[in-house]
Amino acid sequence: MIQLDRVLTVIVCGAGPASEVGQLAKLAQEHGWTVQVVATPAALDFLDIPAIEALTGSPVRSQYRKAGEPRSRSADAIIVAPATYNTINKWAQGISDTYALGILAETTALGVPIVVLPFINSALAARPPFRRSVEDLRGEGIHILLGPGGIEPHEPHTGSELIASYPWQSAFAEAERLVAELRRTRSRRRRTRRRWPGVSAPGSALGGPPGGARRATHRRHADPGSPFRTGLVYRLPSSSLSIVQLAATASRAALGAVARDRLRRP
Ligand SMILES: Cc1cc2nc3c(=O)[nH]c(=O)nc-3n(C[C@H](O)[C@H](O)[C@H](O)COP(=O)(O)O)c2cc1C
Repeated sequence: MIQLDRVLTVIVCGAGPASEVGQLAKLAQEHGWTVQVVATPAALDFLDIPAIEALTGSPVRSQYRKAGEPRSRSADAIIVAPATYNTINKWAQGISDTYALGILAETTALGVPIVVLPFINSALAARPPFRRSVEDLRGEGIHILLGPGGIEPHEPHTGSELIASYPWQSAFAEAERLVAELRRTRSRRRRTRRRWPGVSAPGSALGGPPGGARRATHRRHADPGSPFRTGLVYRLPSSSLSIVQLAATASRAALGAVARDRLRRP
C-alpha cells in the first residue's frame, strides 16, 4: 500500500550524477513521497533547476531561508546523492558551511533515516581521511551505500561513463526500508506504553513486561538539593522509587517494628 504525505529531502552534491536527480524525485513521487531538493553551491552548476522545481513543486534550496520565506518541511528521510568526497569529509568533521551541511549536521542527531550514495573515484576513496569519515558517520547511524552491497568507487577519469548507471533506486529502496523499520519500532513502543505505562519496550536492559521493576535509568530528582538527585531509579509500572528511597522505607519499617516490639514488652 502506498503511504501518503511522507517527505523526502534529497541533498545533491557537485558530482556528475547530480544532473539526473530528477530520476530519484520521480521514483519517490511514484511511491507517494513529497520530494524537496537541497543542493550544495557546487551542485547548482549540474542541475536544471527550473525542471526540478516544476517536478517537485518546491524551490531547490542551497541557502538558509531569509526572514519571511517559508521553511522547508521536516523530512521523514534524507538521501544524500550523489555524495561527494568533500561533503562526506566535512559532514564527518562537523563542519556546517553550506545549507546542505547544516541540515545534515542537525539531522544526524535526530534519528531521521539518512542514506548516502557516494560518487567517488578510487583514488579519493582510498585516502585515510575519507575512510575515517565513512567509518565515523556509520558509527553515528548513517547508512552509507559504499563497498559490497552498495556502490564501488570508480577508476579516476571514468565517472562520466557511469552517470547513466548510478543506482538511485538502491538509495531509495534503503530509505523506504529504514522508514518502514522505524515505523514498526515506534508502533511497538506505543503498544508497549499503552499496555504497560512506565515500562520500556522489550529489549531494554532488564527485559520487558510483564510485571515488576523493569528499567534502570539515571533520573534527575526534582529537588536539586536532595541526596537522591541523580540516584539510580527503577521504574515500576505505576510509580518510580529510587533504590535509596526503597532502602530508607524498608529500614524505617524495620525500626518501627523494633520500637513496637519494645513497647509491647513489659
Ligand atoms: C565536472 C565535475 C565533476 C566532478 N565529479 C566529482 C565526483 O564524481 N566526486 C566528487 O567527490 N567530486 C567531484 N567533483 C568535485 C566537487 O564538485 C568539488 O569537490 C566540490 O567542492 C564539491 O562540493 P560539495 O561537496 O559542496 O558539493 C567534480 C567537479 C566537477 C566540476
